[in-house]
Amino acid sequence: MVYGDIESIVDIHDVFVSYETASGKVMALRGVDLKIGVGDRVIVSGPSGSGKTTLLKLILGEVKPVAGRVKVFGLDPSMEENLSRIRSQIGYCSQEGYLINKLTVMENIDLYLNGRGIDLSSDEIMHLANTLNIDNVLDKLPTQLSGGELKRAELLMILLDKPKLLLLDEPTAMLDTENVERVISLLKEFDGLSMAIATHDRRLYSVGNRLVELVGGEVVRIENI
Ligand SMILES: Nc1ncnc2c1ncn2[C@@H]1O[C@H](COP(=O)(O)OP(=O)(O)OP(=O)(O)O)[C@@H](O)[C@H]1O
Ligand SMILES: [Mg+2]
Repeated sequence: MVYGDIESIVDIHDVFVSYETASGKVMALRGVDLKIGVGDRVIVSGPSGSGKTTLLKLILGEVKPVAGRVKVFGLDPSMEENLSRIRSQIGYCSQEGYLINKLTVMENIDLYLNGRGIDLSSDEIMHLANTLNIDNVLDKLPTQLSGGELKRAELLMILLDKPKLLLLDEPTAMLDTENVERVISLLKEFDGLSMAIATHDRRLYSVGNRLVELVGGEVVRIENI
């Protein structure tokens, strides 16, 4: 299905997600409803353990619902055969980070863009790297970067691909004030790009147009901001 034909990029209806643990089942999402339309910027807030990361992973198809319905770009991410089409349109910045440690940042970027069939000039890459204030770390290994540099390197990599949906998990964690401001103003520049941002950081609320608050896996508040 062509993405222009669908009403919502993400359509989550009455979804429950649980994890198996040694001490039994943990219900991480309980009856969650959420729609993300084209150009929507949803801030997902809530205390630690409330289900923010699980919600992003649900959209990516990394966790599957035990009940309810999920559509992303019109496709069900719990079906294996849909995953590559869904993920090729998403830029995901995980909470833990995922650059390959044996490769430099630039080699990571090349690998990621090649895998997605994108060819960019080094000028284009340097321009965005400069905006994020990480042009001097591109030749380093991820293990040689500070936590904040690593976060921005990942953001650079996924933004270069010009995804249709950004999923950012705590993108300002470990950033100092100056770099938080850089990331916020950069995200605001990507006009029309749909995003879901999981965060504790109230400074990021200015990037969003909708706030969703989770508590104990339930949506307790949803409002335009
Ligand atoms: N892989 C897992 N196995 C078992 N339980 C998990 C797993 N991942 C998350 N959980 C549990 O599911 C619940 C929701 O976790 P989640 O990571 O989605 O919360 P969060 O809102 O992102 O928290 P934080 O703000 O700390 O990142 C928590 O109770 C957590 O302990
Ligand atoms: Mg989390």
